[in-house]
Amino acid sequence: MTDRYCVLGNPVAHSRSPAIHARFAAQCGQDITYEAMLAPLDGFAETVRRFIAGGGKGANVTVPFKEEAFRLCTRRSTCAERAGAVNTLAFVGDEIFGDNTDGAGLVRDIEINLGLALPGKRILLLGAGGAARGVIAPLLVGRPAGLFIANRSADKAEALARQFADNGTVDAGNFAKIAGLQFDIVINATSASLAGDSLPLPDGIFAPGSLAYDMMYGKGETPFLARARAQGAGRLADGLGMLVEQAAEAFLVWRGMRPETTPVLAELRLQLA
Ligand code: ATR
Repeated sequence: MTDRYCVLGNPVAHSRSPAIHARFAAQCGQDITYEAMLAPLDGFAETVRRFIAGGGKGANVTVPFKEEAFRLCTRRSTCAERAGAVNTLAFVGDEIFGDNTDGAGLVRDIEINLGLALPGKRILLLGAGGAARGVIAPLLVGRPAGLFIANRSADKAEALARQFADNGTVDAGNFAKIAGLQFDIVINATSASLAGDSLPLPDGIFAPGSLAYDMMYGKGETPFLARARAQGAGRLADGLGMLVEQAAEAFLVWRGMRPETTPVLAELRLQLA
């Protein structure tokens, strides 16, 4: 029987994961199906159980269920434990295994696709919600000079800095606190642009040649990247590469092989243009 996979979210119709995994499966000669599955806001666990009963072998999890997926797991990877959230589920026997491949996806996109090594870099992470939390430990594994977490509500950023203090040099505060500082990599993990808001970033935070990275992606430049360009950031990248890389990591968890991401990313990029 063909192994079934899906992405669970609400909303989920817009998800590009089915297209990405269809390409991965064809490339790796894997006979699988992968569909987008809408879970009711109050029915995530039930949707997972029904999917397992129907032959489901694994699932990706997206907004707003990553924390609930974490709680549902019977076993979790270290990455998932650190993130407090799960984006990849694997169903093996009675076990529900949870992993979080978002951070690995981001780091691979920066280091391999964009060719920027993390060691010694000054990193600024904007935001202190679930998207930010999931990438902190993987970024710190890359041995940057330091990681500053800046957030509208300083207390949430400071709590994250305390939580990850053992993993590296982590500082935190509100956006005003980064005035006068410069960074080599600035990553937007806030959801501000979804509300059409721009972030009150102080001038001068982008070091010469710095990378501005928006975890969001879409047609055209995001508001954060437009601002970064105006502020003199050397390079701009959106989150499409991270999306493809986290998917490849999930595929590896499920199928034991890692697909080539470059052609898939190029194809998606063309579709977005
Ligand atoms: P996600 O899981 O996508 O990270 P979240 O947990 O709701 O979503 O977190 C949203 C993040 O975007 C938070 O850092 C939030 O800042 P606060 O903690 O101060 O709420 C940030 N954010 C959302 N809208 C914003 C805005 N208009 N300006 C600045 N930051 C914003």
